[in-house]
Amino acid sequence: MALWGGLDLDAAGNLTIAGHHVATLARSFGTPLLVLNEEEIRGQARRYRAALAATGYPSWQVVYAAKAFLAMALCELLAEEDIGLDVVSGGELYMAQAAGFPAAHIIFHGNNKSRAELEQAVLAQVGRIVVDNFHELELLREVAGRAQGPVPVLLRVAPGVEAETHSYIQTGTQDTKFGFDLASGQALEAARQAAASPGLDFRGFHAHIGSQLFSVDPFLETVSRLMALAGETTRTTGRPMTELDLGGGLGIRYLEGDEPPAVEEMVAALVERVRREAEARNLPLPHLILEPGRSLIGEAGTTVYTVGSIKRVPGLPAFVAVDGGMSDNPRPALYDAQYTALLVPTGGGEAPRPLEDCRIVGKLCESGDVLVKHCRLPSPQPGDLVVLLSTGAYTYSMASHYNLLPRPAVVLVNKERARVIIRREEYRDLLRGHQPLTAEAAVLQRRPAP
Ligand code: LLP
Repeated sequence: MALWGGLDLDAAGNLTIAGHHVATLARSFGTPLLVLNEEEIRGQARRYRAALAATGYPSWQVVYAAKAFLAMALCELLAEEDIGLDVVSGGELYMAQAAGFPAAHIIFHGNNKSRAELEQAVLAQVGRIVVDNFHELELLREVAGRAQGPVPVLLRVAPGVEAETHSYIQTGTQDTKFGFDLASGQALEAARQAAASPGLDFRGFHAHIGSQLFSVDPFLETVSRLMALAGETTRTTGRPMTELDLGGGLGIRYLEGDEPPAVEEMVAALVERVRREAEARNLPLPHLILEPGRSLIGEAGTTVYTVGSIKRVPGLPAFVAVDGGMSDNPRPALYDAQYTALLVPTGGGEAPRPLEDCRIVGKLCESGDVLVKHCRLPSPQPGDLVVLLSTGAYTYSMASHYNLLPRPAVVLVNKERARVIIRREEYRDLLRGHQPLTAEAAVLQRRPAP
């Protein structure tokens, strides 16, 4: 089968990532392990930038959506690649600040930012705050009073565009919690208010319509609607909209047959539509912002698990249990997400194994803890490794401590080396924040973990 994400087979048929044997990575760093391929991440970042540059569009910015996966080391890498950061909470902003990420390249999103978060963002002098609703507009006006100068602001718009994806990750329809409603005139009213606020520097509009999208059309429709809104705003306020942020959403390959649009195709189509709409409405070309999350990091990630128990019932696909599950990747349970699984047999030198119908299940106490509902693997044995492809986005960042499973290690690999960028959690990390009720319990809690 075709491989991607920097995975390959060496001459002896061993699975490798950026030239490292998967079996060696598992031995060195333990499992479950999230392996991120540095070349892939840098490659996608450069691809986005090159695609925009190739259009000759005058002013643009690529901003990575941190929610897909964030680590201090990734902040450094993105800054090197001249990629900005979209954060959605004080926590994400805190990590970016702690990593020394340039604040001017940070965009702060969120549908319910607290006053404290807005203060944090204003104090940090982030590049843009994307205001989501009238309550926030009011709060920000108050907070902005104490800022150095006018706070650069975009307004999030719900454009009423339906994108084909799981309903949980559709965000562009009218019936969404995000943004100012376009159809009822709320977006225009918000623009009027923002433009009239001396503490705010109103720059333009933002929309994010959904995630894991395979069609460019809903993006183009969004551009048209936002440019129409820009025209109305200019007429009403007398101020041109100078920026347009189109969010993220481009899909990636999870299964062999998946064929998402190429980054270049998507970027060229978007730019063409922005130009056309600007010309038709006699508007200046806005500074264009794209916010890819999944398509920047998703295919660069591979999760490696070790097989433990295998339950075989005659006539049913085998339950192949691995040492992680919905705690390190809740996407199959949440969105019915599908992944490609590969088996790396250990032991070696044995007779060829027949293919067997399998399910990959986790070790959490839930029947719904299924990572892959069906796959055919060469008769798995305990101790083998199972590898899931395209797990870079929305896995580690959505991981939980359910059943008190420590979170996996994350390793960044390139041709030269493999570096731990997030260490594997230990049992004592699970006690962090717990306060004993009695002195005896306090003594116990300080004892080294067994
Ligand atoms: N910008 C904004 C404002 C967003 O809300 C998002 C994602 C992005 C950019 C990046 O979108 P991407 O390029 O990654 O599609 N947990 C779900 C995905 C939720 C996406 C939320 N917003 C999943 O695992 O599929």
